[in-house]
Formats: sequence, structure tokens, C-alpha cells
Amino acid sequence: MNPHQPEPFIITIFGASGDLSARKLLPALLYLEHDRLLPHTYCILGVGRTSFSDQQFREKAGNALKEHAATVNATVRKKFLKRLHYHVMNTSDSNDYIGLKQKLTELDISIGSSRNFLYYLATPPVLYQTIIGYLSTQGLNREEKQGWKRVIIEKPFGYDLKTARQLNKEILKSFKENQIYRIDHYLGKETVQNILVTRFANSIFEPVWNRHYIERIEITSAESIGVENRGGYYDKAGAVRDMIQNHLLQILGMIALEPPVNAEADSIRNETLKVFQSLRPISIKDMADQVIRGQYLASTIQGKKVAAYRQEKGVAPDSQTETFVAMKLFVDNPRWKDVPFFIRYGKRMPVRVTEVVVRFKPVAYTIFEQGPTSAQNNTLIIRIQPDEGILLTFGLKTPGTGFEVSEKSLDFHYSSLEQTRLSEAYERLLLDCVKGDQTLYLRGDAVEATWKFIDPVLQAWQHHSIKLYGYPAGTWGPKEADKLIGKGATWRYPCKNLTSDTGFCQL
Ligand code: BG6
Repeated sequence: MNPHQPEPFIITIFGASGDLSARKLLPALLYLEHDRLLPHTYCILGVGRTSFSDQQFREKAGNALKEHAATVNATVRKKFLKRLHYHVMNTSDSNDYIGLKQKLTELDISIGSSRNFLYYLATPPVLYQTIIGYLSTQGLNREEKQGWKRVIIEKPFGYDLKTARQLNKEILKSFKENQIYRIDHYLGKETVQNILVTRFANSIFEPVWNRHYIERIEITSAESIGVENRGGYYDKAGAVRDMIQNHLLQILGMIALEPPVNAEADSIRNETLKVFQSLRPISIKDMADQVIRGQYLASTIQGKKVAAYRQEKGVAPDSQTETFVAMKLFVDNPRWKDVPFFIRYGKRMPVRVTEVVVRFKPVAYTIFEQGPTSAQNNTLIIRIQPDEGILLTFGLKTPGTGFEVSEKSLDFHYSSLEQTRLSEAYERLLLDCVKGDQTLYLRGDAVEATWKFIDPVLQAWQHHSIKLYGYPAGTWGPKEADKLIGKGATWRYPCKNLTSDTGFCQL
């Protein structure tokens, strides 16, 4: 056996007939199997209320895999499907966990999984505490001599600070922190992990990665889609809970953290926690200058009519839920004092793009003539998705007489690597979990720290009449968001085609 392969295991997926399982979890496991990263001995147990036989579940999964893991060949897929089993149960009924325990024991005996059990909660969050509590009633949380027990919990982890604390407290009654894997799929993205490598494996960046050289940092995450068929969920959550409290603050954590003592889970997680604890609280009087919220309005995009958010299914016709947020944040520590971090996120934006722009300060004094395309700031753009890569802009002497400076760029695209496919976030995260590596999972204290920062913003919206701006679908959000960034400056507006010379474009 390959010594780097994980031990045998059984993964139980709660909510196995749902979307997440079909679109993300099963495809991720299939790709891991295809890449031979999983042990020979493992199996997948889908559980849920919907009644399926093993065969029916395999057929359903097979169809999803043809669509969502299309590049894996049929032989590997068929072999993989044989590893799938299904168990019908009502996850809210404590008695049904007796049957689950029996099923797991049978599977363990038949495949020899050494009682290493992983539970994946791909269910609505209201079920988290129930499932965890009943697993523990049956002793399915107890780690025996040979058998680890781990639980992966999907976001949202809590609805606010209070509920996140409660949830942590409840889960910790049944599972220890080292058994709990709180997932944030952004940490599974290759390009997010690469932020650490960019910073700490290159001597050219870390010495200038601080307030003395960096003017500001922009984190943009734009989605061209609307809320699709998730209006019911989204209307209660909103953009801050859905994207900022978790994914985008995690990116900020990677950008801002101090050098960890090593690359181990707790070293990295200790440093990101400190970033979240250093976020300057946003008080009610700062809201107008630091937070802008918006909601998309009906519009026509490329000749196609697009509904307003309030017309989406499951959304209240007078909804005050934000689908766009722009925020100005400060990390109060010696490295970042007074450097503004901007976060901009929205649904129904002109393009789908997530990126981090690190804008360096201009040279203190320039002796050169500035050309029409010159920019005085060097800029490092970390493209998280979809055109994954890194772009660095610099001033170049315009060839010819004189010393005119024009802006050029060094541009790296992951697509140019020989190693072809960038693995999906869930592949890396599932593999790490079965190996027992928590580095890319959230620790309870960090989740609470992000909520502690976010809570006052949500409270302010709830209790004060703070304006919710409309923006036509297909635009970059309310123009008030542009004012956040300051006089004379603009956000970077990424083009659809980011391969242009500088990577910049103004709409
Ligand atoms: C999810 C949010 O966590 O992340 C969605 O609930 C959002 O609303 C999605 O669309 C974005 O993820 P990605 O990987 O497509 O950027």
C-alpha cells in the first residue's frame, strides 16, 4: 500500500440524495478514486428518508457522475459505483440510529474498514445538532483503539455569533475538536492555498507585505448567476452570511496572517484566528463609510430579460435581503495598521470572477515621465477563479527616446501548466479529512471570531434604517460602493477576458 494513502474508512453521507452529494461529494470521491488517492478498502453509505435500494442509489449516482465527473472513464466509474450503499432512515428519529449502527457494523465486517467512520452532514443546518446527538447516543462518536470517528459539517455554521457558539458547544459534547471538520470550500481551492505559498516561499513578496509598501487590498468575488432555485434559503441568509462571514474572510485571513511557525494545522489556524480577532469592529457610526449593501433589480443582459431579486421564487416581495455588499475593513495590528482591505461581493454581476488585488504604494518620488498607459502602483493580482493565475504589473521604459514609463505585466495562468486538471475544492478537503489533516478546515474559535466581527453589521441593518441600494442585474453593484474606496481611486473591474496586456479594463 502507498504509505501516503489514507487508512480504510466508511463515509456516511447524510442528505445523500441531495444536490451537494450529486454535484460535489460523489464527483470528488470519484476523482480521488481515479487519481488513486484513496485506499483499496473504503465505501460510501448514503442515508436519507427517500427510499432507495443500493441499486437505485447507484443508478442515480451514476447519472450524476456522468454529468459532474464527465472526464472519468466508464470503467473507473462503474468500479466506483459498487462502493456505494444506501440506508433508509429518518435522521430525526433516535431509533433509526440503531439501524444505522447495525448497517455500519455490517459494512465494516464485510469490507474491513477498521471502524474508521466519517460522517458528512450534507443536510439542512437545523439537523446538525440532532444528527450529532443521536450518533453519540449510539456510541458512533467514540474512537476505539483502531477506529477514528470524524464529522464534516457544511456551512452555514450558525446564523450569528450566538447560534454559532451554541452549535460549537453542542457538537463538543459529542465530538472532540480534533474530530470536527467545519468545511469552507474556499479553503479547498488550489489558488486560495497558493496565497500562502506566494507569500512564504518567495523572498520578493514577504519583505514588502505590510503597511509600509501596500496601499490597499481589494478582494472581489462576483457571480453572474442570481439566487437560482435557492431563494428560500438565501432570503434568510443574504450575502454577508452566505459569502463574507466565511469564504471571503477566510481569503482575507490567508492574505493578512503572520508567518506561521510551520505548515501544520494549528500553526496556520492560530495565525488566521489572530487576524479575525484583530479586525477593527464596525460601529453604527462607521456603517455609512464602511459598508454598502445592495439588491439586484430587473434588467436586460445581452438581450435577455433577468428578473429582480424580489421576483425570484422563495423571496419576499418586499425583501430587504442584500445580494451585494462592499465593505472597508481594517486589521488592527502592527503589520496592517490603517491599510484598508476592501471586500466586494455580489450576485448578478457582469462576470464570474474571484480575485485579490494587492496594490502597492507608488515610489516616493518619480524622476520619469509617465506615459499614457503608466500606472504608478505595482499591483499583484491573485486570480482565484475562473482563470486561475497570478498577474504582476510593473512600469517599463517605453522603447524609444526619453524615459517614458508604461505599465506592463507578468501573467501566469494555471492552464499553462503541464499538470492538466486543477482538482476541485471538495477533493482536497475530503482527502485531507480521511487523512486526519485539519489545516484547511475551520476551528471553532475562528468561526466564532468571524461572527463576532460580522454580528454588529447584521444588527445595524436589522435595527436601524440603513439604506439598501438597488443595482440593475448585470452591473457592478450600486455606485455608492465606488465611493467607499476613496477619492480618485477605483476598484479594479475585471474583464471577461483577463489575458489583455495589463489585465485591467474599465467598464
Ligand atoms: C456557496 C454559496 O457557499 O458558494 C453560494 O452558498 C455561492 O451562494 C457559492 O454561489 C460560490 O462558490 P464558488 O466555488 O462557485 O465560488
